[in-house]
Amino acid sequence: MTESTTYARAQSDALYASAVQCIPGGVNSPVRAFKSVGGKPVYFDRAQGVEVVDVDGNAYIDFCLSWGPLVLGHSNPAVVQAVTEIAPRGLTYGACHPGEVAMAQTLVAAFPGFEMARLVSSGTEAVMTALRLARGATGRPMIVKFEGGYHGHADALLVKAGSGLVTHADPGSEASSAGVPKEVAGLTITLPFADLGAVERAFEVYGDRIAAVILEPLPANNGLLVQTPAYLQGLRAITRQHGALLVFDEVISGFRTCYGGYGAAAGVQPDLVTLGKIVGGGMPLGALVGPKAILGLLAPVGPVYQAGTLSGNPLSIAAGLATLRQLQDRAVYRRLDHLGAYLEHRLAATGVPWLRGVRVGSVFWPYFDLGPVPVRADTISSVAVARFNNLYHHVLQAGCYLPPSAYEVWFLSTAHSEAHLDALVAALADAARRMA
Ligand SMILES: Cc1ncc(COP(=O)(O)O)c(C=O)c1O
Repeated sequence: MTESTTYARAQSDALYASAVQCIPGGVNSPVRAFKSVGGKPVYFDRAQGVEVVDVDGNAYIDFCLSWGPLVLGHSNPAVVQAVTEIAPRGLTYGACHPGEVAMAQTLVAAFPGFEMARLVSSGTEAVMTALRLARGATGRPMIVKFEGGYHGHADALLVKAGSGLVTHADPGSEASSAGVPKEVAGLTITLPFADLGAVERAFEVYGDRIAAVILEPLPANNGLLVQTPAYLQGLRAITRQHGALLVFDEVISGFRTCYGGYGAAAGVQPDLVTLGKIVGGGMPLGALVGPKAILGLLAPVGPVYQAGTLSGNPLSIAAGLATLRQLQDRAVYRRLDHLGAYLEHRLAATGVPWLRGVRVGSVFWPYFDLGPVPVRADTISSVAVARFNNLYHHVLQAGCYLPPSAYEVWFLSTAHSEAHLDALVAALADAARRMA
């Protein structure tokens, strides 16, 4: 890398010491705190392409990429230009502007079968709105989610119940966060992935009370728990049979593995799709896309309330549209897939059998163990987690910034090159040798 090669982080450490005094845990989002891998967070100063430089002048190749939005890398020139052109014309209007129409039209065009989009400021907000709409549309109170599915931090989704849930008829008995009332948690049923029988049993017991089943069609928040198209189709059939909505949370997967939705590409048409990350091109933007019959229930035309001071922010939309425009060139996805395949190939060539992962396009989850790769959260091996934690800081010191958790996926971008991946694989192989 170009700048410092010592990777001393005195300035980062000093900032962190100050941060813990004035920000809970020193961070504004928990996983940034490095709790799972140990050590202290790195403070970034600037980024371009895939290179981030910290406040001490150390440069890293970034494989976290702000947790997914930066499919074109940091500060993509067309995205930066779009934002800098619009900024002098007003940072927010709190009123209507042409960009909102362009973005809604772009999203609707990318999701065949849908007619409307509502723009919000984050993925969490999009999901909250989707659930309220599902409840408003069906008049039912309960939600089904899956173990290891993350959908933002709304109360209804911070729940993980044991797998004996349905047989014990005790939905949502265990909230994942203090501050979620058990009455709220009790409206959420959490089931294991890859088990349609569990979904059928939940519907047998609670079918007339379930408003929606929500999942990431490509579950990417607790490892990469790839589900089969048949499973997604099964969920579609069960929800349709019982009059519940199927919500695909595509905050990560939307526009990541193909232009539009991962679920639709797998042949399944949900009732609602939630978006975030890539659609904002690195700026705060979320969206809910669906048919007029459902989105038309939102205020001001319908009875389901949702609002936002910064909703449809002009800068976010400019960044998002400049990103989506570039993704309309399908060659981009071929390149991203090639990079993913190259990473897998280079890892295999190290000869370290456990240095491997699960990949879909440009999303890669390191699964550092042998045996079948997990498709359910409860089968992730503790050995894989321990190996990742052990090598994390070695790889960081070698100039590669990975998401600081064994459960998080790595993101590739059009700004990565084969040489960047070679550097990562060399660092991983070196770390593996030291651990042997
Ligand atoms: C699938 C999914 N849904 C929702 C969210 C929440 O989005 P945000 O962090 O923008 O609120 C996330 C965030 O990582 C996510 O991965």
